[in-house]
Amino acid sequence: MGWIRAAALSELSDGAVLGVEVAGRRIALARVDGEVYAISDVCSHRDFPLSVGEVDAGECTITCEWHGAAFSLRTGEPLCPPAFRPVPVFPARIEGADVMVEVE
Ligand code: FES
Repeated sequence: MGWIRAAALSELSDGAVLGVEVAGRRIALARVDGEVYAISDVCSHRDFPLSVGEVDAGECTITCEWHGAAFSLRTGEPLCPPAFRPVPVFPARIEGADVMVEVE
């Protein structure tokens, strides 16, 4: 499927997270130190949207709002319970004024 425009960069301020739908997938976009990350917007613990969670810019993680599991924005690996399964991540980049995500 390739690279798809997921959002305008202006919608995603640094340290923020934004829930979007790309090619039928729910994806949480996060921006940390000028980089953009794309992680599935479905927590692997109880399917809660990660896009309402909180980004930790220093650790480059996102913490689920419901029960507090944290995931690496780079790898999707869970870093603390109650989640034990990783969340899919997708390549993301800034292209001009847009955030692009690569989905299969
Ligand atoms: S649903 Fe995310 S930690 Fe429970």
